[in-house]
Amino acid sequence: MKDAQPNAIFLKDYQAPNYWIEKTDLVFDLHEDHAMVSASLSIRLNDDVEGLPDLVLSGIDLELKSISIDGHPLSDADYTELRDQLCVKVERQPFCLEITNRIKPRENTSLEGLYLSNGMFCTQCEAEGFRKITYYLDRPDVMSVFTTTIIADKHRYPILLSNGNDVARGEAGQGRHWVKWEDPFKKPSYLFALVAGDLQLKEDLFTTMSGRDISLRIYTEAYNIDKCDHAMRSLKKSMKWDEDVYGREYDLDLFMIVAVDHFNMGAMENKGLNIFNSSCVLTSPKTATDSCYQRVEGVVGHEYFHNWSGNRVTCRDWFQLSLKEGFTVFRDSEFSADMNSRGVKRIQDVSMLRTAQFDEDSGPMAHAVRPESFIEIANFYTLTIYEKGAEVVRMIHSILGDDLFRKGSDLYFERHDGQAVTCEDFVRAMEDASGKDLTQFRLWYSQAGTPVLDVSDAFDEAAGEYTLTIKQSCPPTPGQHVKKPFHIPVRIGLLDNEGLPVTLNAQGSDEVTLDIRRSEETYTFTGLSAKPLPSLLRGFSAPVRLNYPYSTTDLIFLMQHDTDSFNRWDATQRLAMAEINSVIEALGNHQHPTINPALISAWGEVLADQSLDQAVKAEMLNLPSEASIAEQRQSINPDLIHRARKQVKRAIAKTHQMAFLALWKKLSVKKPYKPEATDIAERALKNTCLGYLVTLDNLQYLELASDQYRQSGNMTDQLAGLVAVVNAERHEQALIDTLLDDFLATYRGDANVMDQWFSVQANSPTLGTLAHVLSLMEHEQFDASSPNKVRALVGAFTRNMVQFHKTDGSGYQFLAELVIEFDRKNPQLAARLIQPLTRWKKYEENYQAPMKKALTSIKALPDLSTDVFEVVTKSLSTH
Ligand code: TRP
Ligand code: ZN
Repeated sequence: MKDAQPNAIFLKDYQAPNYWIEKTDLVFDLHEDHAMVSASLSIRLNDDVEGLPDLVLSGIDLELKSISIDGHPLSDADYTELRDQLCVKVERQPFCLEITNRIKPRENTSLEGLYLSNGMFCTQCEAEGFRKITYYLDRPDVMSVFTTTIIADKHRYPILLSNGNDVARGEAGQGRHWVKWEDPFKKPSYLFALVAGDLQLKEDLFTTMSGRDISLRIYTEAYNIDKCDHAMRSLKKSMKWDEDVYGREYDLDLFMIVAVDHFNMGAMENKGLNIFNSSCVLTSPKTATDSCYQRVEGVVGHEYFHNWSGNRVTCRDWFQLSLKEGFTVFRDSEFSADMNSRGVKRIQDVSMLRTAQFDEDSGPMAHAVRPESFIEIANFYTLTIYEKGAEVVRMIHSILGDDLFRKGSDLYFERHDGQAVTCEDFVRAMEDASGKDLTQFRLWYSQAGTPVLDVSDAFDEAAGEYTLTIKQSCPPTPGQHVKKPFHIPVRIGLLDNEGLPVTLNAQGSDEVTLDIRRSEETYTFTGLSAKPLPSLLRGFSAPVRLNYPYSTTDLIFLMQHDTDSFNRWDATQRLAMAEINSVIEALGNHQHPTINPALISAWGEVLADQSLDQAVKAEMLNLPSEASIAEQRQSINPDLIHRARKQVKRAIAKTHQMAFLALWKKLSVKKPYKPEATDIAERALKNTCLGYLVTLDNLQYLELASDQYRQSGNMTDQLAGLVAVVNAERHEQALIDTLLDDFLATYRGDANVMDQWFSVQANSPTLGTLAHVLSLMEHEQFDASSPNKVRALVGAFTRNMVQFHKTDGSGYQFLAELVIEFDRKNPQLAARLIQPLTRWKKYEENYQAPMKKALTSIKALPDLSTDVFEVVTKSLSTH
């Protein structure tokens, strides 16, 4: 546990370190109940520092065994041990500090530092986990050359891994052996990694653009080794893509990935030794869905791309986190777009951003892409840092264009190779290489909140002139009450009465990007014979909310005619959202809602449209998710959101059931599973049809779903069949039980597949009651020490609009108790689990009180982790 009243740290207080650690030599002696860590650190004074200040090293939960300088043991007067620090008197420099300390990996449940997962030792050091391994200057601007020697029992731990290349190995007596690793590249401590276990290896080779052969290795437990092919293919594609698109070559002779079951996040880019949540590595047609396959490809790419954007060029301090994460998410999303369907990737990314990042940016934890302060850095691995950060890089890309952006990234990597730098350094490289002025653009890094664009237009018939007026504003966020106008690139087109693109300038373009800079901008287009319909913010060219008074007819016209596939999709979402809103109003007033026939026939046209890309079609048919609807409401009533969405969905299904059925049949052809764009699109579309059909109370459709569950040879279709049966309007408990039991019998023991089994139940508005969730927590397949399991069951339950949000507060109380319990074991997980409660102010009154009560009961506890303390305090704050 950390201090009861932790303090915030501020970007403005940044100071370079007093000392540098040029070389770090580590020896790990691993035992069953403890590990001994010996560190030998070559330390030199920072030239800019006067005198010889004390050397202050971070250290948490460490037992100091010995300490000496240049071979001379220190006396008690030479150093002080504080709670999380070790202060050492310095009399001369440079010097070598030798420290030995003992740690207890088996007792480490935080999954930070050195811990055990299924009997295998592994590490997670980002952001500040290295201080749980040994005393260190655990900050990213201290970069050091590491060697690591691991000593362990040969039979239990035949595989001993660390960063870089293995340079020596030998016997250590008593059945023990050792391996020494050397990483020639300077790195901060957060990129350190160690793995020891009984692992199998899948090996391959990649020849780089300069002709060097790189050995690629994926390590897993023996029973999973046949599930690594897709990850390996993804790795080779990533390496090739980074050469082709960014000119970046891999630098070590070896690249390793290790899959572990107990992991707080998706994966970690440790130099040469990436450690992955097994859910982001393992696939097979029978056990992984299409979205798992795509996630594996994306995450493998993400971590690989960090080798340049993060490792070779790293962050000066953690306020700069988006420097590596935003840029790397932009890189991985472009990679996925190139490997699959670009249009669909954009729709999926934006839909996630608008649902979850916009929500974060309008709530109590809202922060800028480069935050000004934080209490606990682990809380800042957020959608804002990652996804909004990626949108900011995407805007730079669109302002500069392909070629200048590439010149900018070349300059950035070349200028800062081997350095720990800032977001400012990134933007300056982009400016220097392109000659573009990004002064105003920088506000995207410092101002939080989602900007709003209010667009209006006018047509002067006599002059043939069309005028667009765009006003921008940005709501206040914690600590930032007034915002300056942003530089916002808004890509637009105009459609004429026939739906044809209007030529917008002398160059004959039918699409232009408007550089919005002032709080109000006006643009005039001439030579028009009738008022056009604007297609605004094409491709979602900036992370903003855009308001324009589109009528139903306008939106249907855009759905049919827009040349921008993103905006065609967006028109469906706006149309559906307007309809769901009006159903919510009607239900709230106890009226019987009627569904606008125009919406229903528009959906019919999408269904019938032969020219549409199938994947885009599936996305267009999907109604906004409950979470997305909630985000767009002024005030949330979860029950009404659930009912309104269901009614709209059922009305569409009722009118078009023959078309849905025909399309489902047409797409239900048996063929070998391939995780490729066209096949993925067909499955998505087919399962969208199935999802509509089972909203109708009809036994025939229930049987369709259960047949699909039983007969499909892949997890995507099987799971969709199960979800359809579980959530069908025609509720057949016996059938649900049979399928759930069958699923359990088939996949018991496969941790990642069982996660789906827990989620399907916890998500269900009928099955996912609190009582059922509590009983599932006692299930033999549940494992409270696995974040994946906790997220699959409890996380899914907290997103269940019907069962979690009960006005008696039972769901909230349950979550509060669980968060308190988890906080003692895994604070990072606990702080993420509370998230759904933090938006209490956005809910209708009868939900607010019990939500607030649950938060208050957490806050009342002494000894909260900094993680939970920060989230709870900020969400209860009145600012
Ligand atoms: N750098 C990792 C990534 O984005 C993030 C990460 C992995 C992480 N594990 C973590 C962050 C644990 C905080 C704590 O790829
Ligand atoms: Zn990352």
